[in-house]
Amino acid sequence: GVRYEPVDVAPRRRDRFAGGATAPTAGGCPSAEPFSNAVDTDPAVAAHRAWARSVVGPDSGYVPVQAPEITTTAEIDGAVARAVAAQRAWGAVAPADRARVLRAAARELEARRTDLVTAMVHEPGKTVAEADPEVSEAVDFANYYAASAEALEQVDGASFTPEGVTLVTPPWNFPVAIPTGGALAALAAGSAVLAKPAPTTPRCYELAIGAVHAALDEVGPAIGLDPQVARDVVQFLRVPDGDLGQHLVTHPDVARVVLTGSIETAELFASWRPERPVLAETSGKNALVVTPSADLDLAVADLVKSAFGHAGQKCSAASLVVLVGSVGDPSTETGKRFRRQLVDAVQSLAVGPATELATVMGPLTEPAQGKLLRALTTLEPGESWLVRPRRLDDAARVAGLDEDRLWSPGLRDGVAPGSFFHLTEVFGPVLGIMTAKDLDEAIRLQNQVAFGLTAGIHSLDDDEIATWLDRVEAGNVYVNRHITGAIVQRQSFGGWKASAVGPGAKAGGPNYVAQLGAWSDADGVP
Ligand code: SER
Repeated sequence: GVRYEPVDVAPRRRDRFAGGATAPTAGGCPSAEPFSNAVDTDPAVAAHRAWARSVVGPDSGYVPVQAPEITTTAEIDGAVARAVAAQRAWGAVAPADRARVLRAAARELEARRTDLVTAMVHEPGKTVAEADPEVSEAVDFANYYAASAEALEQVDGASFTPEGVTLVTPPWNFPVAIPTGGALAALAAGSAVLAKPAPTTPRCYELAIGAVHAALDEVGPAIGLDPQVARDVVQFLRVPDGDLGQHLVTHPDVARVVLTGSIETAELFASWRPERPVLAETSGKNALVVTPSADLDLAVADLVKSAFGHAGQKCSAASLVVLVGSVGDPSTETGKRFRRQLVDAVQSLAVGPATELATVMGPLTEPAQGKLLRALTTLEPGESWLVRPRRLDDAARVAGLDEDRLWSPGLRDGVAPGSFFHLTEVFGPVLGIMTAKDLDEAIRLQNQVAFGLTAGIHSLDDDEIATWLDRVEAGNVYVNRHITGAIVQRQSFGGWKASAVGPGAKAGGPNYVAQLGAWSDADGVP
């Protein structure tokens, strides 16, 4: 079919590398290019580079989180009480007026793009190339959920009651887009929001919530919102994990908890609130399948982007590649070539701190331990390193990062069905290779994991693609594309199987806001 016609990417790739300081060996990674030392003749590129330099450099203007940490349960109780009071007024605001606030929030987030990117560079250690689109995603969420709020009014004969005070607590890996999306969806539904940041990335969330407050201040007078309600309807609360965190999560007046985090945290929260809603997007152990019909150059590029973007610290990241037939067989020319290109591409990744523009793969946000440390250091029976990860302590020291935060990427071959690396999320820069004799076996390996978050196939055969789409068990499936970086509205995002807890509508998609409340007909019958 026309859609999957092979594309000759080689000329474009050569152009991209022309003049670059980091031209890789043949088959190298196209994502290794964005900031070469070449002189830019294109003014737009030069302007972008100057902006990026200002963001990462010593004069970036990064300031740490401003809000003090909460230290007592009384402070939490007070905040929840204010949220309950604000909730009554906010829930009564017409959905179209709530939508005006969200559209203003989109503009305020855009206006803070530089500050938000700076915070992401300095807190979790995201590269500019990863952080900049994350701001766009937050802006997209604001505009998308504004439209969702408007749609709440348009359902004939049915009325909608928001759930009430909603705690939105995010992961540190997407510290801007994910919590901003969650908070704005709850606001769109008419709920009040308590925003608890991840302990490692408080400034990112504080800035985003600051944008929402600016929007409330701007639109509030026009929609008759009491200034106190505008303050209290969304509150940024630096509640530490532990007893205080548990107090907040289990608070009787917190109607819903929206969590993005590990499966362990989601299970803990659900056990703390057995009768009450928790909506969680959790872990993934995601695989990309490559069949012999694939455009192998494209597959390598997409694989490297999916596995090593933000040092693999994405729930959506590719942790496994399943090579089908000859692609996986190193005794064939195709099999040899694929592994060689993949090794070249992985070794071409420029590893460093996010404060260096040349960095393509940045640091770990938290030092490697537990499952990740095992994945970085220990092979399982039958496995071998094609690229062995190394701890780059000297480079970390020079960059002022804690020891143990900078690792070079790893590529392990021979991952066995049912093994530790096949089934366990490790959340870091290690990619494992599995092989399958045919597509059928590849799909079985992919579906054998408990999670079902993202999955990908690279194939130029329509029948293979149709078979795979029919049978693969994942919330987000991608054909001939990298498997991270879902686009709001176009690829609404959510998990299947153990990757999700709570009701099913996906973030950035239809019905996400509509599920955050109760529907009844004109007579009040649910
Ligand atoms: N939405 C992110 C992605 O698609 C993951 O949370 O990569």
